[in-house]
Amino acid sequence: MMQISNTITDLQAKLNEWKSQGQSIAFVPTMGGLHDGHLALVALAKQKADKVIVSVFVNPTQFGENEDFDQYPNTLEQDITLLEQHQVDGLFTPNTDQIYPQDLENDIVAGELGGILCGVSRPEHFDGVAQVVHRLFEIVSPDVAVFGQKDYQQLLLIMQMTTQYFPEIKVLSQPTIREEDGLAMSTRNQYLSENERAIAPYLYQALLQAKQDYLNNTTVEMLTNTAKNTLSVDFKVDYFEALDANTLKQITDNTSKIAILCAVFLGSTRLIDNIIFNKG
Ligand code: PAF
Repeated sequence: MMQISNTITDLQAKLNEWKSQGQSIAFVPTMGGLHDGHLALVALAKQKADKVIVSVFVNPTQFGENEDFDQYPNTLEQDITLLEQHQVDGLFTPNTDQIYPQDLENDIVAGELGGILCGVSRPEHFDGVAQVVHRLFEIVSPDVAVFGQKDYQQLLLIMQMTTQYFPEIKVLSQPTIREEDGLAMSTRNQYLSENERAIAPYLYQALLQAKQDYLNNTTVEMLTNTAKNTLSVDFKVDYFEALDANTLKQITDNTSKIAILCAVFLGSTRLIDNIIFNKG
C-alpha cells in the first residue's frame, strides 16, 4: 500500500519508522503530470534503495510571472494510479504552506550556473528550483535522490547544491526517455497542438545532427549556427549551445564530455532538450 502524506508530520512519521528499521530511502521529486520519464526515475530509485518516496508539488517559486504556473497540468488521480502500479512506497503531496512556512529562512540561490542558458530567459527559475529541492531534501532526508537528464542544467545545479548542503545525499541521474519519434518526454508536451506535435521531434533531430557535425570536426560556431538556422524555420530559438558537459562552460582541451543543449518556443510552449556524449 502506498502511503499518501500531505503533511510533513505524517510523512516524517513513516520515514522515521522505515529509517529505524534500517531501510534506505530513495527520493524522486516531481511536479506531477507524470509520464514514462518520471517512471524511469522511479525504476532507478527502486534499484538503489529499500523504499521510494515521490513528491508531487508544483513549485510556484520556479515559475516566472508570465509562465504557465496556473495552467500546469494537474493529474493527481492518474499520478497516484501510476505510482501505485509501480510499487512506490510513499507519495508526498504538500501544500504551499508546508513547503514555505512564513518563518522559513530563504537564502538558497542557484549561483553562477543558474544565470546561463535557461537562466537567461528565466531569471528566477533556478533559484526557485534550488530553494524547493533544498527544502524537500531537508524534509525527506533521503539517502539517494533521482533526477532526469532532460533538465541537464537543473541536474548540475542540484548536484552542486547537494554537495554544499547535503553531502550525505547521493544524487543520481537517469537518461532522457523519448517518444518513438525522438521527442523528449515532458509534461509540457501536453500543450502542443497536433500540428506542433508533428514538428516537435525536429528538435532532437537537430541535436543528433549537431553531434554528428561535432564528431566530424565542424567547429562549434558552425554547427550551432547551422542548427539555429534550421530550427528557426519552425521554432523560435532561445539558445542552442555546445559546451563542456561538466561545467557548462566553453569546450577546452581538458573537456572530456560534451553537452549540446537547446531551448526553443513552439507556439507558446517552451521545449528544452540536450544530448551528452564523450568528446572522443
Ligand atoms: O524537474 C522538476 O520536475 C522540478 O524542477 C523539480 C526538480 C521537481 C523541482 O520543483
